[in-house]
Amino acid sequence: MKENIVWHNTSVSHDDRVQLNGHRPALLWYTGLSGSGKSTIANAVDRKLFEKGCHTYLLDGDNVRHGLNKDLGFDDDSRVENIRRITEVAKLFTDAGLIVGTAFISPFIADREQAREIAGTHFVEVFVDTPLEVCEQRDPKGLYKKARAGDIPHFTGISSPYEAPENPEVHLKTDEMSVEEAADQVVSYLVQKGIIG
Ligand SMILES: Nc1ncnc2c1ncn2[C@@H]1O[C@H](COP(=O)(O)OP(=O)(O)OP(=O)(O)O)[C@@H](O)[C@H]1O
Ligand SMILES: [Mg+2]
Repeated sequence: MKENIVWHNTSVSHDDRVQLNGHRPALLWYTGLSGSGKSTIANAVDRKLFEKGCHTYLLDGDNVRHGLNKDLGFDDDSRVENIRRITEVAKLFTDAGLIVGTAFISPFIADREQAREIAGTHFVEVFVDTPLEVCEQRDPKGLYKKARAGDIPHFTGISSPYEAPENPEVHLKTDEMSVEEAADQVVSYLVQKGIIG
């Protein structure tokens, strides 16, 4: 009964919240292979922003699947729905004025473009660009080993494609820089765009 659902305007506006926070909202969308460093860098950035007094929140892959998306599997439809829900949640947080980080492999261009469209705020695609060989060598969760053994179907980079961003706002080559340098590059982008002071 969609026709009976009416949007209720809020008494505290988005602009009120931005003013109180002292910075603009943004959605930092980290994308890259498993083990590329999304969670590590997103957490380093989050810590830096937090220490600057910014209001932030981080949505991370496995954590979201423990709760909000625990009913979803890994087939194509579920992956699309996974990203859609995450984007809608991120949108609520950015509407509340936060700088939100999302750390999901999000291998498909179409899904990331949909996120960009839904977000409707400053969308920052952060390409955590780490060669497959390096990710496989790091293998922090032991997933590549399992995927090579054929124990994980549709594993990105091994048996499922990763579509690299063509024009990311931030491009991090993590095999050439430290976590600290990568995080600084993201923060610099936010300063340069006037999102934070
Ligand atoms: N320059 C670097 N930047 C980021 N991570 C690095 C770097 N050098 C080494 N690492 C290590 O690489 C690993 C990256 O793992 P991390 O869990 O952050 O990847 P992820 O992209 O979140 O993977 P997943 O998609 O499986 O969650 C960590 O163990 C981290 O310490
Ligand atoms: Mg991660």
